[in-house]
Amino acid sequence: MKPSRLFALAASLAIPASSTFVVQCYSRLFDQRADPIVSPNVASEHVHTISGGNGFNVTMNYNKARASKCSTCNIKKDLSNYWSSKLYFTAQNGSFLSVPIIGDNNQGNLGGMAIYYLYRGGPKNDKLRAFPPDFRMMAGDSLKRHETDDFAGRAVTHRCVGGNGPETKSLPNQPCDQIRAQITFPSCWDGKNTDSANHKTHVVYPKNGNYNGGECPSSHPVHLVTLFYEVYYDTKGFKNMWYGDKQPFVFANGDGTGYGYHGDFINGWDVPALQKALDICGEDADCESRASFTMRTQSEAQECKLAPLINEPVSGVLAALPGCNPVTYGPADASPQSTCAAPKLNLKASPETLGYVDVTKSKAYRYVGCGKDVAGQRTLNAAWTSSADMTVDKCVDFCKSRAFGYAGVEYAGECYCGNSVASNRAPVVGSVGNCLMKCSGNKKQVCGGAGAISLYQACKGGSCTNAVKRESRRLAAVDLERARAAAPL
Ligand SMILES: *[C@@H]1O[C@H](CO)[C@@H](O)[C@H](O)[C@H]1NC(C)=O
Ligand SMILES: *[C@@H]1O[C@H](CO)[C@@H](O)[C@H](O)[C@H]1NC(C)=O
Repeated sequence: MKPSRLFALAASLAIPASSTFVVQCYSRLFDQRADPIVSPNVASEHVHTISGGNGFNVTMNYNKARASKCSTCNIKKDLSNYWSSKLYFTAQNGSFLSVPIIGDNNQGNLGGMAIYYLYRGGPKNDKLRAFPPDFRMMAGDSLKRHETDDFAGRAVTHRCVGGNGPETKSLPNQPCDQIRAQITFPSCWDGKNTDSANHKTHVVYPKNGNYNGGECPSSHPVHLVTLFYEVYYDTKGFKNMWYGDKQPFVFANGDGTGYGYHGDFINGWDVPALQKALDICGEDADCESRASFTMRTQSEAQECKLAPLINEPVSGVLAALPGCNPVTYGPADASPQSTCAAPKLNLKASPETLGYVDVTKSKAYRYVGCGKDVAGQRTLNAAWTSSADMTVDKCVDFCKSRAFGYAGVEYAGECYCGNSVASNRAPVVGSVGNCLMKCSGNKKQVCGGAGAISLYQACKGGSCTNAVKRESRRLAAVDLERARAAAPL
């Protein structure tokens, strides 16, 4: 599996002074109209790019976050969720094209975001507190379309990488190789409420100094660690597509200015572990090693993916931004879209949401999830074939005719057979894994990914059901217990 470029890029960044440590979210769970803070239990108004633990859902609490089985971010003690609005390009013909995040490729890898944990104690060098359980907050204002010079306004910025402009609060007015969307969160907490009606007023920016420094007011006396999000959008491919007199990018919330960029955070930390890291690190820059965090690998982060919650395309070429989000350029605030009919959530585990083919009846093989593979040491190595018109059916037929217990499709056109799957190659419970490549012979089917294999197992005895939990779309993945019982892995 090719490593995403995010790590290399982020590692070469000038880390802001007194950055205690960086949570590297190598990947994303998905891009989706979901926001458990602002729109619990329904489709949210616009599309977000969402990273963190796979306990993420349309509604969730701290315990759900802590119950995550995997995360797209690197520090193991952190199962928080981090999200912000997704960027699109408005083409001259009126279509909207999703803008890739650095690290996205067409083999199933998704790029992510970098979350800086900044130790900014202010002039009195306050001892910083970890986020408490159940804590959540948002920064930025989705409806804003004009520049302001208050701390909330200064906290949203855009860096044009490969251009020659300064950091701007608006989206850059010139073509850039990359646009780095950035937002700093408030760090002064009222010490009582873990959320508030507008998800903002329980926290404020410092009262003086700067938005990421300064003293906390007496109304919000508890000084928290400062969060700073960075998302790198790969805008190089759009450089020659500019037209007219406005910059052509737009955030998913219909924001053609950049002033309405916003971010959200749900705490999923092992709180004592975060507090210990803050205590050890203090203001020392770059103290990941002294904090002695255990890290997930990039490929573990890549394999952590959620199935879609809504049946609607959010990437590629779109006729409109998902939801009701007319593009506005200010300076007046955008109007809230209260009359837009929200689509139904699709929370069932189904072949469509989970990317598998039901061949239980036709071939007596059951889907058991998306496993890992390694080129030099195949997960299934007893027989193989490849084809420019591979399908799940063809691969299962190939392995079945040779009486193998497992068939696996990979990298769009490869098919492998074997009789067992090592436990370190087995699917992760609750994640759809990195199997996102369409089959070379049927674009409606999924045939694994790069280093990721869609696994089908021969049924034994009477029952033959796909190993996905029906009641939960997160399912998704696999019911490993059942898979193990059916054939020891
Ligand atoms: C509009 O233009 C974009 C960019 O060239 C292209 O990708 C897209 O397919 C076009 N949309 C339609 C509906 O033709
Ligand atoms: C996600 O939330 C929905 C709506 O509350 C719920 O029906 C579903 O069971 C949840 N999924 C998981 C895996 O908890």
